[in-house]
Amino acid sequence: MTTNKEEIVGNYEIVEGKVKTRREVLMMGALAAGGIMSVAGAQADVVKQVITTPGEIKEKDFSSLLTKKMEGLSTNQIEQHLKLYKGYVAKTKEIDTMLQASDLLTQPPAANATYAPLRELLVEQSFALNGVVYHELYFGNLGGSGGEPTGDLKSAIEAKYGSIAKFMDYLKAAGKSMRGWVIIGWNSRDGMIHTYGLDMHNMWSPANVVPIMVLDVYEHAYMIDYGINRAAYLDSFLKNLDWNVCAKRFAAVTKHPSGWDSTS
Ligand SMILES: [Fe+2]
Repeated sequence: MTTNKEEIVGNYEIVEGKVKTRREVLMMGALAAGGIMSVAGAQADVVKQVITTPGEIKEKDFSSLLTKKMEGLSTNQIEQHLKLYKGYVAKTKEIDTMLQASDLLTQPPAANATYAPLRELLVEQSFALNGVVYHELYFGNLGGSGGEPTGDLKSAIEAKYGSIAKFMDYLKAAGKSMRGWVIIGWNSRDGMIHTYGLDMHNMWSPANVVPIMVLDVYEHAYMIDYGINRAAYLDSFLKNLDWNVCAKRFAAVTKHPSGWDSTS
């Protein structure tokens, strides 16, 4: 490879004074081999290298939840829910791969705000990725012993809602109001705890917010155990909520507002 790389910044590289994506740099190197590799061969090689680079989304192991005997949440309910999560991981990988390859096939990709393959990939990218992240945060704050938050998190909730009892009532009401998720998040804009509701993984997810507690209220989260009785599910969720995990997320986000890694 004969390109003159001057600096590497994340996924970008400065080459001869110009910002290039890593893919562009790889392509330059492949084409610089001249005569050894066809353009099509170079593209295939680049795609292969890009999709195997670090950062590829990986499935997290939540199998410990299956042996915890959580009160009110059956093993079958959790097992089926985890299968759904794995499906989101697979689809996120599939979409990422297609997006990484798309601009190699057509320069530039076809673009249209009513329909274009790129548009559809971009729309479903946020749905699939948020489906992964919110489920990781949800399963990550399950498996605890319920009760109430303590320490700084308790103080922050009380500052916003007046008391833990009022907060719990508000949380349950939010849980009955939404069709997808309820997020207790730290808003870095005002430095306070807030409750947000989402009807889909990628619908109404607020900016500047890092999730601290995530509650799944999609029917698939409780139908096996409770049918349409969401109130009973909410009670069981709160009995198994791990406030220690939420406290760790809160401590991390207040020190470093870029947020808590959902895979942690
Ligand atoms: Fe779910």
